[in-house]
Amino acid sequence: MKAREIRPKVYSVGAIDWDRRLFDALIPLPDGTSYNSYLIKGSEKTALIDTVDPTMDSVLINHLNQLGVERIDYVIANHAEQDHSGTIPQVLERYPDAKVVTTPKGKGMLIDLLLIPDDRFIAVSDGETLSLGDRTLEFIHAPWVHWPETMLTYLREDKMLFPCDLFGSHLATTDLYVTDEGQVYEAAKRYYAEIMMPFRTTIKKNLEKIKDLEIEIIAPSHGPAYDKPYFILNAYREWTSDELKNEVVIPYISMHGSTQKMVEYLVGALADRGVTVKQFNLVAADIGKLATALVDAATMVIGTPTVLVGPHPNVAYVAILANALRPNLKFISIIGSYAWGGKAVEQLAAMIPNLKVEILEPVLSKGFPKEADFKALDSLATTIAEKHKEYGFA
Ligand code: FEO
Repeated sequence: MKAREIRPKVYSVGAIDWDRRLFDALIPLPDGTSYNSYLIKGSEKTALIDTVDPTMDSVLINHLNQLGVERIDYVIANHAEQDHSGTIPQVLERYPDAKVVTTPKGKGMLIDLLLIPDDRFIAVSDGETLSLGDRTLEFIHAPWVHWPETMLTYLREDKMLFPCDLFGSHLATTDLYVTDEGQVYEAAKRYYAEIMMPFRTTIKKNLEKIKDLEIEIIAPSHGPAYDKPYFILNAYREWTSDELKNEVVIPYISMHGSTQKMVEYLVGALADRGVTVKQFNLVAADIGKLATALVDAATMVIGTPTVLVGPHPNVAYVAILANALRPNLKFISIIGSYAWGGKAVEQLAAMIPNLKVEILEPVLSKGFPKEADFKALDSLATTIAEKHKEYGFA
């Protein structure tokens, strides 16, 4: 595919990665991803906004060759993670006069990660501008829109925002701009859940910081660009808000059917009480879908059998993951079974210190669940439904 002009003298020169199925050796990518990079030809200077993952460096270099780019003055590094910065060394080698423009923190990280020499950098402060002649870049420090060094770049004359990871989606597509809003909403929400949710509070502050900026296009470094920016800005306001839904997420494992029976019973009991439930059997669950469900849910109930006195290891993994993703949950409970004893509840509770939740009375069955266990599950369902109502979760 050729480099494409996204606005006059602004070109999309990045790479689409249709085949990537895992990011950070952790996050599933069912729809691939892209590493978007943008070339801006000003009347006096040329800037490249972010680069691409080093596995696709030849795509970026070929695009620059196709466009006959003989000089790049500035490589804007909004973020030091290698899926955007990894091809900076090749670009610097090819364009020996180019300087890397980044935050002071970004400079330190790029020196550490990519061994870029100190004299190739221009460190910019928050609000600083850089003239390309007829165009002006403004740099907005926005820490923790993935890492602590991140910034956004605003192209004033075109009212374009280049936010790198922020507002992105892991979605391989030939569309420069969003065409299927439903598809992009799902992909962007999943991406938010997996990457941005731990920084919800900081993102809210950053949204506040850009609220008065006139924006016509948001061009992130993953997924299609937004020519209707309010589509993604409103979605982020919704996802980062404190308004939760009347929903329960149940990740679980069952080895011999006891926990499965309890989960099925609880799902029915919650549905009878008007609560929406999303059930994830961790034997084959898509962790991205589970993370997405945690954006809105008010409650999570973890289901586990007892394995060697503790929770099943796959359940422990999800507890640790949820603790890292810091969803805005309000309530958690644990249900499951044991044969002769154990510490599954205590161990799981110790794995989620980041979640500021009320822990509702767990329900543990000795062996296959019996009448008393089903009554306890009914009671748990009632408590959840009442708590949701009390808090106004609709
Ligand atoms: Fe797309 Fe944090 O890198």
